[in-house]
Amino acid sequence: MLFLFQGPRGLTHSWALQTILRQSIHDPSRCFQAVLLLALTMLLLAGILHMDVGLFIPLLRSQAEGPPIVNVMFLKTHKTASSTVLNILFRFAETHNLSVALPAGSSFHLGYPWLFLARYVEGSEPQGPQQRFNIMGNHLRFNLPEVQKVMPNDTFYFSIIRNPVFQLESAFTYYKDSVPAFRNAESLDAFLASPWTYYNQSVGLPNAFARNNMWFDLGFDNNARANDEGYVRARLADVERQFQLVLIAEHFDESMVLLRRALRWRLDDVVTFPLNSRSVRSVAPLTAVGRERAQRWCALDWQLYQHFNRSFWVRAHAELGPRLLRAEVARLRARRRELRERCLQDGTAKNQSQIADPQLRPFQSGQADILGYNLRQGLDEQTQRMCERMVTPELQYMARLYALQFPEKQPKRLAFLE
Ligand SMILES: *[C@@H]1O[C@H](CO)[C@@H](O)[C@H](O)[C@H]1NC(C)=O
Ligand SMILES: *[C@@H]1O[C@H](CO)[C@@H](O)[C@H](O)[C@H]1NC(C)=O
Ligand SMILES: *[C@@H]1O[C@H](CO)[C@@H](O)[C@H](O)[C@H]1NC(C)=O
Ligand SMILES: *[C@@H]1O[C@H](CO)[C@@H](O)[C@H](O)[C@H]1NC(C)=O
Ligand SMILES: *[C@@H]1O[C@H](CO)[C@@H](O)[C@H](O)[C@H]1NC(C)=O
Repeated sequence: MLFLFQGPRGLTHSWALQTILRQSIHDPSRCFQAVLLLALTMLLLAGILHMDVGLFIPLLRSQAEGPPIVNVMFLKTHKTASSTVLNILFRFAETHNLSVALPAGSSFHLGYPWLFLARYVEGSEPQGPQQRFNIMGNHLRFNLPEVQKVMPNDTFYFSIIRNPVFQLESAFTYYKDSVPAFRNAESLDAFLASPWTYYNQSVGLPNAFARNNMWFDLGFDNNARANDEGYVRARLADVERQFQLVLIAEHFDESMVLLRRALRWRLDDVVTFPLNSRSVRSVAPLTAVGRERAQRWCALDWQLYQHFNRSFWVRAHAELGPRLLRAEVARLRARRRELRERCLQDGTAKNQSQIADPQLRPFQSGQADILGYNLRQGLDEQTQRMCERMVTPELQYMARLYALQFPEKQPKRLAFLE
């Protein structure tokens, strides 16, 4: 922030100086004034510079110093690159022997789409002393008091949101066959042209993916009136209070830089390959009219996104400044390129039929082609293990952590691999 003010202040000084210098050529007393002002300016500038450097470095240091944060809750919203973020948390948990709040029994979600309850977590004991976990990140509908029952009180809370137009487009492809409101719509453009033909509000939870889905995941009413300013402002304030950081999927790498700083983790901890992404073939972009309609249809999500996109950039510039942010993003990308070359066969994502190891095949849904990866052959054991963690699809990873954490329980059954 201080650097932002330095430019204008410096300019003002040099302008005043030039004026006096110009006037002083014919006047000795003014010449003395000029020298005095020059000296004062130098002192002031030195002071400012010193102050900037002095304030700036401890600020960076205080963020970077101290042990890494190990109690972390991630609200995993839908169709927002959140599977890639969850991979980061699973890897960190596994390599640091941290406990994870995993779905109980045979389920894959923490009760979604119902509001979260502590008993949806495996090993949570409502009667005895409450078990607490380090990491939580599986799909759930946010309900803070219940989350607090299973997470320590110094937990870092964060989430990720995406432009609702693209979020809805992705949800339509992914949930086309399962969401009542989408089932009979020929295309998303057709759906948006007359949403009330397809969307029956009384159907409730099964239609949660069809409108303001991020608002819903945050625990709010996704059918609330979007032009009720007081209501919207109060809910946005709730999110501000409950989450220390809200990431933006469109600015994923900048998001990883901010996340890493906030958690004091290492660079490699936040380097990822996109997981659960769709092939180009299964992305059907909306028309310009469709995009506008989507903004209006998901007006609560649109306001959520506008608000947090704005505060994301204010924070990024306040904490790092544009130059340092760019440098950090470049470092992250360079490391991703390096690991891609080292880990991945051909360095690219593959579709289902091209993935040799079933354990690395992601779950498929709707009309979407969900991509995964093949690992390079002949990796040494340690590299193999690191690369494997980065490309293990979410459900397989969850099942593995579950088996590690609850060896006495029935393992999770991944029917789509059978
Ligand atoms: C995690 O646990 C394993 C097995 O108990 C141990 O070998 C390893 O050193 C531990 N790692 C950390 C980071 O604590
Ligand atoms: C947080 O939890 C710890 C241990 O469970 C407890 O000692 C501490 O008082 C709690 N702090 C707050 C602010 O509730
Ligand atoms: C909307 O859903 C409710 C509850 O499932 C049902 O009773 C009603 O008939 C539906 N309305 C329309 C127009 O389909
Ligand atoms: C998000 O914020 C950035 C930076 O201010 C801006 O360039 C971008 O247009 C915003 N995105 C949307 C969809 O408003
Ligand atoms: C998978 O990729 C191959 C090669 O690019 C392509 O020929 C094939 O049609 C793809 N399959 C699907 C289901 O997209």
